[in-house]
Amino acid sequence: MANPQRPGPAIFVLYGATGDLAKRMVLPAFFELAKLGLLPTRWRLIGSGRGDVAHEDFVGHVRHSLTQFGTGVTGAAAPVWKSFAQQLRFAGGDFAAEGHGALREAIGQARTDLGGDPDLVHYLAVPPQAFGPLTTAIGRHQLAEDARVVYEKPFGTSPESFRALDRVAHRVFDESQIYRIDHFLGKEATQDLHVLRFANGMFARIWDRHSVRAVQIDCPETLGVADRAGFYDHTGAVLDMLVTHLFQVAAEVAMEPPASLEPAHLQAAREKIIAKFRPIDPADVVLGQFDGYRDLTGIGDRSRTETFVAARLWVDTPRWKGVPFLLRTGKRLARTHQAVSLLLREPAGPLSGLPADGNVLRFSLDGSGEIDLAMVAKQPGVGLRLGSARARVPVADIADREPLPPYSRLLHDVLAGDRSLVTRPDGLAHVWKVAAPVLGLRRKPLPYAPGSWGPAAARRLAGSDGWLLGQ
Ligand code: BG6
Repeated sequence: MANPQRPGPAIFVLYGATGDLAKRMVLPAFFELAKLGLLPTRWRLIGSGRGDVAHEDFVGHVRHSLTQFGTGVTGAAAPVWKSFAQQLRFAGGDFAAEGHGALREAIGQARTDLGGDPDLVHYLAVPPQAFGPLTTAIGRHQLAEDARVVYEKPFGTSPESFRALDRVAHRVFDESQIYRIDHFLGKEATQDLHVLRFANGMFARIWDRHSVRAVQIDCPETLGVADRAGFYDHTGAVLDMLVTHLFQVAAEVAMEPPASLEPAHLQAAREKIIAKFRPIDPADVVLGQFDGYRDLTGIGDRSRTETFVAARLWVDTPRWKGVPFLLRTGKRLARTHQAVSLLLREPAGPLSGLPADGNVLRFSLDGSGEIDLAMVAKQPGVGLRLGSARARVPVADIADREPLPPYSRLLHDVLAGDRSLVTRPDGLAHVWKVAAPVLGLRRKPLPYAPGSWGPAAARRLAGSDGWLLGQ
């Protein structure tokens, strides 16, 4: 019987196919879909890149990516890999240059081989500066009609470049063809933020300022940037994480209930709440740079790129009035974790001075995701001593089904034409307004020691609660 979750036949063109993002994320995610039987029955992946890569070398490259960054191609995966490898092609040369036709030919050949009328997907796994020229080239080579295009984040690097890119994208594509993705939205636990809230009375009732005193979205990383210094130095933590991943997750938390969880309603609810984010006050932002950053190969010794950012965001709706959304992320910090915590108010009544780490509902977004409720309880034994007890629900335990890696989920959505996790230009235009005061800061980032929790100034932002993960 046909698998209803299998999308129709498709040609998937991967720009930047030999680059870092393709290797680490896109190719392993694509293979994961193959293993789960979630790819179309007829498909082809055409890698596009500047170099001239021989067919066998491209297949070797993909195999290496799957081994190094995915779950490998041996054992039970071996037969899947065998047929997967047969669907790979490479079209080299500079596609954005005038008159280049290798990719057009490869697409034409794939159409003939697959037969029928396969969907065409352009996936731009390239740095943001290349989005515009590639989009124009897709239009010029007449490859836009009825196709889908996928943009990675950040979609623009400033309010002006966002507008310019948006114009180019809409000159070539209709909005319904455009998929701007943010892989944090594809994480299982991120999706549980809205499901848990809308499906359970216990949570639906506490989702506002009457019960929540603060929200923390905290994504520290121990990871450095040495293997992608060039990209990072042009991007920095504000663009790489804050105004992209962390803002989208904040929108997931703060959104008003959509009419349904259908793609269009969910997308509209997220975009609507982003329009209520207040432009960030520069006094509510701490930027940092880890010691040693400027010694990395590829980084200038005067670089002011921030590798750490902490910010306090306000959401101007009756639901969230007065509730700070505290966002933090940085490289070379003490710990790697991705947590969304709702700090609940202490109930009025006979108990006071409750442990600070009780009364917290937390969603861990990393790995396969976990929901975690910290409660204040009596410590066993004589007398009344309070402690905090935790109930953990790993997402992987919820049913007899494997959690889907975020990129696999998003790729499947693109192939199936599901736009629920795609960001829209109206929301993004507001993101840039909210971020403008931060992007305009000419402030020198504060130094911090690798392995620490970033500049001490960030502690003050979190007020008396402090950052729950550490400081
Ligand atoms: C990427 C950022 O989008 O997300 C990286 O560019 C960051 O700087 C990464 O490390 C985190 O992703 P993950 O897969 O660990 O959730």
